[in-house]
Parts: sequence; structure tokens; C-alpha cells
Amino acid sequence: MAEAGSFADRVKQQADIVRVIGDYVRLKKAGQNFTGLCPFHQEKTPSFSVHATKQFYHCFGCGKSGDVFKFVMEMDKCTFPEAVQTVATKCGIAIPRPRERSPEERRENQQRSALVEIQREAAAFFSRALNNTPEGKVARAYLEDRGLDAEAIARFGLGYAPSSGDALLRHLKTKSPEKLLESSGLFSRDQSGRLYDRFRRRIIFPIANESGKVIAFGGRALGDENPKYLNSPETPIYTKSSVLYHLDRAKDAIRRNDFAILVEGYMDTIAVARSGVTNVVASCGTSLAEGQIKLLGRFSRRVVVNYDPDTAGQAATERSLTLLLEKEFDVRVLALPAGADPDKFIKEQGAENYAKRLREAPSYFDYLIARARAMPRTSPEEKLAALNFLMPYAQRVPSSLLRSEIASKIASELRVEEPVLREALRRAVSERRSEVKTKPELMRAAVRPVERRLMQMLVEAEGFRQQLASRIREAQCHKGLETERIFEILIDAAHTGAHPDPASLAESLPERDRALLFEILFEPAQEPRWEEAESCLIELECRRMEENLTELGRRIAALAPGEKGLDLQGQFMHLKRELARLKGHQPLTGGVDGPQN
Ligand code: UTP
Ligand code: MN
Repeated sequence: MAEAGSFADRVKQQADIVRVIGDYVRLKKAGQNFTGLCPFHQEKTPSFSVHATKQFYHCFGCGKSGDVFKFVMEMDKCTFPEAVQTVATKCGIAIPRPRERSPEERRENQQRSALVEIQREAAAFFSRALNNTPEGKVARAYLEDRGLDAEAIARFGLGYAPSSGDALLRHLKTKSPEKLLESSGLFSRDQSGRLYDRFRRRIIFPIANESGKVIAFGGRALGDENPKYLNSPETPIYTKSSVLYHLDRAKDAIRRNDFAILVEGYMDTIAVARSGVTNVVASCGTSLAEGQIKLLGRFSRRVVVNYDPDTAGQAATERSLTLLLEKEFDVRVLALPAGADPDKFIKEQGAENYAKRLREAPSYFDYLIARARAMPRTSPEEKLAALNFLMPYAQRVPSSLLRSEIASKIASELRVEEPVLREALRRAVSERRSEVKTKPELMRAAVRPVERRLMQMLVEAEGFRQQLASRIREAQCHKGLETERIFEILIDAAHTGAHPDPASLAESLPERDRALLFEILFEPAQEPRWEEAESCLIELECRRMEENLTELGRRIAALAPGEKGLDLQGQFMHLKRELARLKGHQPLTGGVDGPQN
């Protein structure tokens, strides 16, 4: 953990956990704190909270909690020193000296930055080739023909790869060693072992990573050549399955609108973005991959899938649906009329019509039912096939209420008998259920409000934290409580006089206690006052006496007939007087009655 005075400690003091976590999770302000969907377990309603002033996070669903470093360590799967670096960088805190890397790591990093630099150079080269060369004129005419003017060309960084076969190579050869050029993905080798340009006579679409750095390219043939689109291969800086085209430009709008539109291609993305709907990304050919979903989920968990309405597009839609639903995304499907991909639709029907269809895009299930209805359904086998097409989706719906609604819908739309369908669905779901883990039990109910409040004050009461800790320890009123262990560490911490850091204190607690502590610290609370602390202490002491009284009463009631139990009676009366004194001579309330004989 961050030792006092260490760099890590300084970073922790200066870092804003809300900002850092906000880079990974969509956070919404809720009172003084922030909430969002937990990145550590699947959920649809937010139970993940970030405490802005105490600088820790806690998930009320799965119980994960910790400080800013722990969060980054878990999300990035990295070590503590790496997490410190990440947080420092994100928060603009100067890192004292470069951390010691292994020579191998250093070489890889150097290679990656050199490759990024090469892509940047290449993008500039393609752009010049499009805008400032005679050959580029043909390409510009092609783009213009497709409705892309100079403004669009500039906005999306479009370029052109000349047909010569070595124009880019000649340009880059003087700047970079051949080995590096080879791993850039921009060149291939011919039979004699010579490098040549991978992209020739193609319109170039630069593909950027999330932070806007060009890491790869897609190239479209000018005519009917095959393949229609040629893309960069995977390189040390480009992993296809975890990149979404246009995400760098779309991410703010995705966060703001809390949904993304997912299209197939470059041209679709550009057309949709130009129509004014900027929260659009493309999976680019490959059907949506898990890495892409994870990436997207950092900005929103709601997606409108808008793939091409052809057979391939439908298949890709359904594959993507399965994946998205597995990750508990909220999915709608925008199915355009046959023959029209988003690009073509917008061109023919206009931005307004596209926006309208987008607003009206049905939930994925309505889309699927429409698909099932379009299947042949005359013979029993055909009916069954249509049903089997829907079942896997239906059983994935987590809410039983929704599932039941869906069952009725399927029954009426496909004309299947409802009880049969419900039974099949119920069985499918319960089979799946057995794998689902229940969330850790949080003992919210067992802990009294006074205990909660005292724990809060032990953390928050700047003026009398130490005094309060001494009083609790003296009175020993925390002994035997479910919260005893938490009290112990808070009391110890308060005695040091330093400002307690809940996240690091909690490290020494067992899982259950840790979750509870964070839960309690998230409860909204007023400024602690000493009088309040005292009355909490008295209250706790009273509760303890009441419990003793109840126990005594039970023992008295259980006395054998004729047995007087005078000592018990005496103890009872004494305790009752003490309790009354503590409560300021107020009449007793609650279930403590006198002895039963
Ligand atoms: P489409 O064939 O639908 O292309 O492929 P498009 O986007 O409508 O393009 P235009 O309008 O004909 O120019 C959709 C996406 O699939 C990938 C590309 O990312 C493309 O944008 N793709 C397609 C390939 O990677 N390779 C191909 O040969 C074809
Ligand atoms: Mn298309």
C-alpha cells in the first residue's frame, strides 16, 4: 500500500478517484457520491459507488471495494507500481523518474511508439496523395460521386494509396529501418523477398485507437477489384478484436447519449456521423468481438445494432446480439429495408428519416420475433425450428417478469400453446440458473443504526475521533457485536491521530466486514457532533442492557414452579433501574416487560 510520504501516497492524495474511475465506468452523480454499473460483475442497475471525498469505491452488488490503485490494478490487471503510474499519468501528476523497465519491455515500448509514428507518417502520405496528386483526382472524383466532399475527407482523414506499388515504401524507407516497416502492416514481401506497398489504388480509411492515434488502415478498391476492402493485418499496435472504428470521435457522444449505434462499415459510420448522429462506431467486417464489447461497455451499455439488411448482416446481427446480451447490454435493432445499408439509406431517405427509424428501433426481441415470423411455419417441424431460433435468446433474459412477457408474445405471434412454451422456457432457465452465483450476503439488516453511525463518526469526526475511540474502548460496548472487528480497527486507527484511510484499513478485514464498512461509509451523513456521539454510545449501552434484561426475563420465566430465583429477580430490578437512569428516567419502550411471575 501507499506508504506515508511515498510517491504513491502523494499520487493518492492528489488523484481524483472519480475522474480515474470515470475513464472506465460511466458514473452518475448521486448526492455527494457517484454511481455506475459495476465493472466487476454483470448488472443492469447500478450498484457500484464511488465516494468522492473519502476516495474509495464499493459495489453493493458483488462487494468489491478499494482505493484508486486497487481499482486500476483490477481493471488493467497490473501491478501496484503500474497502477500508481497509470493514476499519476491520468491525473497529470509528474512522475519523478522513469521507472525501471526490463530491457525487453523497453524495447517493445520503443517499437510500439515507432510503429505509431509510422502510421502517422503513412496517414499524412495517403492524405497528400488524395488531395495533392494528379492520381488522387480520380479518387476524389470517386468520393465525390459517393457524396463525400472535401469537408468529409478532412473530417475523417481519408486518403488515397497510389497504384505504383512502392510509393509509400520509398517515402518511409528513408525514415525507418526495413524491419520496422515490415511489422507496420503497411507492406508485403514479394517472392524475391522485396517489400512492396500493401495498399494500392485504394481509398484509405485511417483506423484510430481510443485515444485518437492512427494504428491501422482500411482500404477500399476504387472499382470492382477483390477484395472490396483490404485492412491492415494485426500488428504490435493493432488488435482487430479490440478496436472499434470511430470510437475516438464517438466516445463523448456515446457517454452523453448513453447509447451507441453499431454499424458494419466505414462508409456507414461516416454517413451516420455526418447525418448528425455522432455516437456511431463500426465493428468493421469482423462480427463483433468480445474485446470490442468490453471496450464499448466502458462508455455505455446500450446499443442499437444497425447492420446491413442482407443475409450476412442478419447473421452478424444475431451473433452480436448473443454476445451483447451475455454481457447484459440493453440492445435494440435497427433493421433497414432490404438493399439499404445505413450509408445508402441516409443518401436515399435523408438524415431525418434515419433519425426517426433510430428513435423507433425496436428492442432486440421484437426484431427476433419479426425474424421468426418471416420463417416458414406451416409444418410442426418448421414451427419448432422457428421456436428454437427464439429460445436461446428468451432464456437469457435475466428478469422473470420480462421472460414471462416474452413467452406470451412468442406464443401469440408464433401460435404455440402458451403452457407448453412456458414450461420449456422455465426448464431452460432453471438449467442455466444453477450456474449463476448468488451475490455475497450483505448483513445490512443485522447492524443497528447506532453502530453504523458510530463507525461513521470514527472515520469522519475530525474534532473528537480519538476521544470517541477511547470512550468506546472503555465502555467495551462494541464487544460481542457483529461489527466488533470493524470497531477494533477503526478504534486503533483513531488512536494514531492520523486521518483514517478506509480503503487501506479495510484491507485487514475479512470480505464480509469490508463490504459492510464501505456500505456504511456510503450512507449519507451529517457533520458529526459530540452530543450525537454520546447519545449513540448511551443508546448502544442501553441496547446491551435491554438484551441482558430480556435474557434475565427469559431465565426467570423458565424457573421451575416454586423456584423463587431471588438473585435473578434482584439482578433484573437492578438492571432495569440502571437502564432507566441511562435513558434519563424515561419510561422503557420496546419489548422488555417485567418478569413473568
Ligand atoms: P460492405 O460490403 O457492406 O461494405 O462491408 P460497405 O461498408 O457497404 O462499403 P461500400 O459502401 O460498398 O463501399 C462492410 C464492412 O465490412 C468490411 C469493411 O469494414 C466494410 O466497411 N469488409 C467488407 C472487409 O473488411 N472486407 C471486404 O472485402 C468487405
Ligand atoms: Mn454495406
